[in-house]
Amino acid sequence: MQRDTIEKENRFIKSWNAEKAGYRLPGLKFLRTLWLCAVAGGPFQYTGKTLGDAHFDFELTSTEFDAVSGVLADALDHFKLPKGEKEEVLAAFAAFKPAVTAGSILRA
Ligand code: HEM
Repeated sequence: MQRDTIEKENRFIKSWNAEKAGYRLPGLKFLRTLWLCAVAGGPFQYTGKTLGDAHFDFELTSTEFDAVSGVLADALDHFKLPKGEKEEVLAAFAAFKPAVTAGSILRA
């Protein structure tokens, strides 16, 4: 599933990309990086919203989450991350799937 497919299925992501990405994307990139550094063992501490709060209103589904995991896996392959490290990153990401997709209960 590509970005345009997610946008067709998820109107919240579509409108975020159209209306907010222009000014929110730099902060989102910073907070995502900080989150990953914290999950990787620190010493940095993540200071953003909980992932549940940050994503609830997007009503993200399991399929949409898995699509983003696939993009992440491709990026890790692109940078030739060794298999063990790649699996660690993907496992850390997957561990937060329940929090990130909690809002999907509102999807019709
Ligand atoms: C484990 C998986 C994920 C992680 C670690 C993650 C990480 C984050 C972080 C750290 C933030 C910023 C929170 C804040 O503003 O304080 C955020 C917000 C956001 N995430 Fe994720 N995310 C994940 C999954 C996803 C997925 C699957 C999507 C979309 C398909 C997504 C789309 C967004 C968007 C659009 C925002 C911006 C919200 C805003 O403007 O306030 N995220 N995410």
